[in-house]
Amino acid sequence: MPQNPFFITTAIAYVNGQPHLGHAYEEIATDVIARHMRQRGRDVFFLTGTDEHGEPVADAAHAQGIEPQQLADANAARFQALLPQLNVSNDFFIRTTDEQHALRVQQVLQRVYDNGHVYKGTYEGWYCPRCADFKVENEILEGNRCPIHEIHLTREQEENWFFRLSTFQEALETLFETHPDFVLPSRALNEAQAFIGQGLQDVSLSRAKLTWGVKVPWDPGHVFYVWFDALLNYYTALGYARPGEDLTDRYWPAQLHVIGKDILKFHTIFWPAMLMAADLPVPGHVFVHGFLLAADGRKMSKSLGNVLDPFEALELYGVDALRFYLMREVVFGQDGGVGMDGLGNRYTSELANEYGNLASRTLAMIHRYRDGFVPTVATDPVLVAEFDGLHDRVAAAFDVFDPSTALGEIWEKVRRLNRYVEERAPWQLAKDPSAAAELDQVLGSLHEGLRVVSILLAPYIPESVAKLLEALGTPDSSFTNAGFSATGPLAGGATVSQLPPLFPRLLS
Ligand code: MSP
Repeated sequence: MPQNPFFITTAIAYVNGQPHLGHAYEEIATDVIARHMRQRGRDVFFLTGTDEHGEPVADAAHAQGIEPQQLADANAARFQALLPQLNVSNDFFIRTTDEQHALRVQQVLQRVYDNGHVYKGTYEGWYCPRCADFKVENEILEGNRCPIHEIHLTREQEENWFFRLSTFQEALETLFETHPDFVLPSRALNEAQAFIGQGLQDVSLSRAKLTWGVKVPWDPGHVFYVWFDALLNYYTALGYARPGEDLTDRYWPAQLHVIGKDILKFHTIFWPAMLMAADLPVPGHVFVHGFLLAADGRKMSKSLGNVLDPFEALELYGVDALRFYLMREVVFGQDGGVGMDGLGNRYTSELANEYGNLASRTLAMIHRYRDGFVPTVATDPVLVAEFDGLHDRVAAAFDVFDPSTALGEIWEKVRRLNRYVEERAPWQLAKDPSAAAELDQVLGSLHEGLRVVSILLAPYIPESVAKLLEALGTPDSSFTNAGFSATGPLAGGATVSQLPPLFPRLLS
């Protein structure tokens, strides 16, 4: 059995709307972490998918005069089609309307019932149909409005099956105390702890009014509340993602759930409690990222109608540029404003003028001055010292799921290498035959530095890096090769090939 499993997930998207930049962001950020862990030899399983049951989907379908399944099929296909366009390397795409998912949801929740964590009662409260959630007192905005969608909440009463969440108060407090990195970043942990601090109330486990969902096995007139059906995707998928194989023992518990801040309560409180109630181990970490905000400073969401189109960005600048921009512009774990202008600026100033230019001039100079051969000489001790520990710092940042800090560290070195070119002016050295050894060292060191930063950048901009590493004659992007070699460039003696610009200047 492979060692070192790393099971990583995104939230699964509602299919009552189409994919937008917020979804793309979560997919990209999760993919960057998954790719990095694969580079380090971890046995990665990366899961994403769609959340297809519940009232919002049923309502949206009926408003269009179609069946929920039809709407789910159409929109799930859109979400699925987005992934290769973003170069997302997921291992499976789960749909909660998969039959095997439903069966496994029933099995797990039957166990929760058998363990005595479920009872029948009447619920009355303020309900947001878009969130598919009852809101507690202090979550409600003035005028009985949803804090997320800002729409009016409705007063609802119904007979439900309830999950005894309140009995998990202590167990959750202990989980947060003994595993303070269960919820990351710390601001999100504080929020989760504050929520528990108010005292947990039991929550609805089923809905009697709805039919669009997974049937409650002990009371088939009810379907499960969509959130429990949805959360369980992380577990059920492992049972059938690979036909004929059950991956549960290999990958459960998940190492990391990546989610947005609006669904913190479900993942940091309901989810671990539900797993404990089913006698299942809880995941290692929940990382809560921020929201991409539109230029107007508000949340970008289908219900607010201020969505920036990722497809347009992909078409104009390409997949790596979009991936890079989002990871560079927005600190992972914080909110950030994004727009087409910002993307265009970073494309030109960083991807084209810094990394792209470093790549072109390094390849061109090795061609021009050394017929394409990478010199076999010791690398420059100045750069050796400056690159010392870089890959360890990058790995350490990823260990706490901080791809922003990692990218900052790497980019500093991209800039350093460009400064090195200016400082050492190889075009001057080339004019002086007595400087041949020095020129060898400069070109070899540039090759080595470019190779190292490229390996480290591979999770962020995989397409460009694959092309460049190939051209550098060192296609292997595993992390064990990410150290800056002091003895001489790893590719010493190999030849480089020419490459069209990685990030060509665009006509505006
Ligand atoms: N279906 C639920 C999740 C169930 S997980 C068991 C859901 N779906 S969603 O389509 O509304 O959101 C999917 C993910 O995208 C969530 O993590 C959400 O926080 C994230 N985002 C939605 N809009 C976003 C932004 N504007 N910015 C960043 N992420 C955002 O919630």
